[in-house]
Amino acid sequence: MLTAAKIELESLVKIKLPPLPGSVLRISSLLQDYNVSQRKIAEAIGFDPMLASRVLRLVNSPIYPFQGNVTSLTTAVNALGNRTIYEMVLMTIVADTFGREIRNSVIGRDIWLHSLAVAFGARELCDVLEMRGTEESFSCGLLHDIGSLLLCRADSAVYSEIFHQSERHDLQTMERAVYGFDHAKVGGLAAERWRLSEPVCMTISFHHNPADAPQALFMTHIINVADNLAYLKNEKMPLGEAFLNSDSVHRLGLTEEMLERVWDKILFQIREVIRAFFAGGN
Ligand SMILES: [Fe+2]
Ligand SMILES: [Fe+2]
Repeated sequence: MLTAAKIELESLVKIKLPPLPGSVLRISSLLQDYNVSQRKIAEAIGFDPMLASRVLRLVNSPIYPFQGNVTSLTTAVNALGNRTIYEMVLMTIVADTFGREIRNSVIGRDIWLHSLAVAFGARELCDVLEMRGTEESFSCGLLHDIGSLLLCRADSAVYSEIFHQSERHDLQTMERAVYGFDHAKVGGLAAERWRLSEPVCMTISFHHNPADAPQALFMTHIINVADNLAYLKNEKMPLGEAFLNSDSVHRLGLTEEMLERVWDKILFQIREVIRAFFAGGN
């Protein structure tokens, strides 16, 4: 049995996860106001130089047709749209909050790249299924394994061993045996601490057992599918019968061809976003 640090669930989330910075809360609340001007959003972004340079780098990347010509934040906000701006704010905050883990540990970097893939995958799945009211798909994907990042921060050596030793399907069982709780439980509490909406908290808490979610069922199934898709593709494994016949794939009415198409599309986006957004940074 591994000798893990004694970790108390409440203090893990309270002590190891700093509250969201004021600048992020300000930008998030501005973005929720449909009547807000793009100049106001650009001003709020301008207060955070790191975020400002990332926004400009992304808007000038090959994903968009501007070929390096956008130099003003207002034009960038206008071109990217509020949804993309919010997603960038969130990526920045997660990358900065867990910068040490992402830069210094293999597991931290693996979880971060996996989370980006799940975020883009979830958003694309919602678009393919033409579901409305799914703006939070990216946030849910990006944060679904935030509990693992926190466990990695609190007990790096032991958690890395658990993470790499366990089979994918029994990671949570191992976590519960060692700590008394699993990363989904930690993640749900972390999302609450960041005052994210209840559906987002629920989705994170139930992403490995979506059928048990008391609400946000659709989004929880989306994250479950995006999670498995990103894992299988990263491991260069075929999608396989177990996945294709899973409850979530079945309920969402997804076919193998649709899933392959989603993956092909997001691969390019992820590469460009990492290059544009994190070049020289995390
Ligand atoms: Fe997970
Ligand atoms: Fe995951």
